[in-house]
Amino acid sequence: MARLPIVEYPDPRLKKVARPVHVFDARLRQLVADMAETMYAAPGIGLAATQVDVHERVIVIDVSETKDQLRVFINPEILWASEETTLCEEGCLSVPGIYEEVRRPARVGVKAQNEDGETFTLECDGMLAVCVQHEMDHLAGKVFVEYLSALKQDRIKTKLKKRKAREAA
Ligand code: NI
Repeated sequence: MARLPIVEYPDPRLKKVARPVHVFDARLRQLVADMAETMYAAPGIGLAATQVDVHERVIVIDVSETKDQLRVFINPEILWASEETTLCEEGCLSVPGIYEEVRRPARVGVKAQNEDGETFTLECDGMLAVCVQHEMDHLAGKVFVEYLSALKQDRIKTKLKKRKAREAA
């Protein structure tokens, strides 16, 4: 297993749209294992392949407190979304240190495949619903800060640039 480098906003590679997975083989299982290791090490509760510069429809999530309930979503699709929305503070391993509230449907139905290519459906609520939607946005080339005003996005970019400069100094 290996930890993979995480691409950070506003890197243009985060805007790439991921392709569907067609081959469920050892390479895919290795990617999933490496993504899980990278997510747990960060530490984070979700990671999309886009964030490790692999542009395929693969997501790993673990919203459990015990960090032992890994969920893998390959080729995920939203089947339905609740009309009820929820405002939740989100963060992202690609936008380190930034936490902002985003409004999203409170519950979603998701269809996806596991590492063996078997299709499953899952009704998600709470943090899992937020996380699935956040990670699926990554696969579409969207980062959560893009829900915020242009002014806020500029402030975040400036903040991240300053931090990078400080770290390099
Ligand atoms: Ni993210």
